[in-house]
Amino acid sequence: MAFITKKKIAGKEYYYLQKSIREGNKVKSKMVAYLGKDLKEAEKKAEQIKNQITNETKPTPKQKSKLEHKQITIEELAMFCKRKGFVYPSGEIYGGLGGFWDFGHLGTELKNNIKRQWWIYHVQTREDIVGIDGSIITNPKVWEASGHVSSFVDIAVVCKKCGYKTKIDKHELKTAKCDKCKGEYENKGEFNPMFTTQIGPIKEDSQTAYLRPETAQLIFANFKLVQENARLQLPFGIAQTGKAFRNEISPREFLFRDREFEQMEIEYFIEPKTVCPYMEEIKGTPILILNEEMQKKNKPAILMDLHEAYKKKIIKTDWHAYWIAKEYEWFTSLGANPSNFRIRQHTSDEKSHYAIDTWDLEYKFPMGWRELQGFANRSDFDLKQHQEHSKTNMELIDEKGKKFLPHVVCEPSLGVDRTFLVFLLDNYFHDPIRNNIVLKLNPKLAPIKAAIFPIIKKPEYEELAMSIVQDLNKEFNVLYDKSGSIGRRYSRNDEIGTPYCITIDDKSPKQKDVTIRDRDTTEQIRVKIKDVKSTIQKLINQEIKFKDAGKLVKTRIK
Ligand code: GAP
Repeated sequence: MAFITKKKIAGKEYYYLQKSIREGNKVKSKMVAYLGKDLKEAEKKAEQIKNQITNETKPTPKQKSKLEHKQITIEELAMFCKRKGFVYPSGEIYGGLGGFWDFGHLGTELKNNIKRQWWIYHVQTREDIVGIDGSIITNPKVWEASGHVSSFVDIAVVCKKCGYKTKIDKHELKTAKCDKCKGEYENKGEFNPMFTTQIGPIKEDSQTAYLRPETAQLIFANFKLVQENARLQLPFGIAQTGKAFRNEISPREFLFRDREFEQMEIEYFIEPKTVCPYMEEIKGTPILILNEEMQKKNKPAILMDLHEAYKKKIIKTDWHAYWIAKEYEWFTSLGANPSNFRIRQHTSDEKSHYAIDTWDLEYKFPMGWRELQGFANRSDFDLKQHQEHSKTNMELIDEKGKKFLPHVVCEPSLGVDRTFLVFLLDNYFHDPIRNNIVLKLNPKLAPIKAAIFPIIKKPEYEELAMSIVQDLNKEFNVLYDKSGSIGRRYSRNDEIGTPYCITIDDKSPKQKDVTIRDRDTTEQIRVKIKDVKSTIQKLINQEIKFKDAGKLVKTRIK
């Protein structure tokens, strides 16, 4: 129990907060905090501190955390992202610019973590994939060879009734109706979504070039160099992440369709007809499947094991089934909800100019099922084109000494921005007990790994907290927060997805330990200060369970 005491020193009154502690048969009183000279102020402060001090009482069932997933619209997500510092409209003080977004501190960290996890899974931990980082602007001949100059075209249409602008594929011209009002579209002609720019400062001498519309092409253009330098043997992949630009007629739905975005792509090369040796790995991966035939017959998607879908020739190649399974596994291993995914085969009239078969991994966005990731079978289209246009031999030699062009039987091509939306949407929870949003991001993706709070506003506690901050911030992003009630500090961090909150409480200086609170359960453990860094590291890497990471303590403040 905590109470206020008054001391008179040299005729002046000073107020203190005391706490009674039972030691064996005796009840002792211990000073918790100095409350100042004014009684009213002291009472206020005491109330705040009492609320903050972890109270060793058993939580009633009512107090237990209860996370409920919250379905929100894409507009609500955009507002949340702006309010919390994840994403802002680009150059907003000048009114923004359609299809361009600026990432704030938390958004940058989340995006970097997504890209980092993607790289670890696809490049760092695989012997058969290496990475490159090509330039955004390259020789325009690359885009002539790839077919993007002549064939990367959409049709711009405007609704005759409501004026809504969008793009459609050629094959949709006769049938498409306005997405907004079902009105008739007016064909405004073909357009190429590649942005152009001039290279060279003197206008007359300058050369027109393009901002890349996909990261893939420099993988093909550099194919021979990378293969030789990295001494790669087929089958192998080359990965690249980076910015891509498309002059979309109607950018919309927050980060879903923007004009500047990022991609994470792999071109996986094989000798034609090579059997995928990894098929055992994907057994037991059920997913909703919608192939071309089902779409033509208006049939619903069916839940099927990807391995079985290949055996039944619903998915034509083993490599395609393998890569779809691996990508689905990547998403779900990082906390995406499996029931929000399905795969859909492109119908023959919607395939890109380079593809002979394409499947999309689709996600149930708030606006409906939409493409998240593409898996195109590009065969030897790109290497052949670059070989012809550049007059550079792109062939490899098989076991019998015969020359051949490797095939890309599957190109997993993923947008970072859409991935960013998926992880936010699937992890947006509300806790009615805590009465705040809990962003249940996988700790590996969370922008801030731990928040550190001194519970008592005294130099002793603040210095201890800062020393922990300085120890941890060499390894990962942490946040120091000493303002507001402890409950407020917890909820602020729940809302930005911080998985662990470390509190320096009244016992810490003496016991040389702290409490660590788990974001999702609100459970707390006590851990020695010297072990905090390694404990947080193990928790992030899921090497230990929270309950086994320290001594569980019962607390009142959640
Ligand atoms: N290299 C193949 C390629 O670029 P794509 O289907 O045009 O294929 C691949 O793009 C992925 O890039 C998409 O599945 C999507 O995640 C992302 N993407 C494409 N256009 C986008 C845009 N305007 N805004 C945001 N992401 C986009």
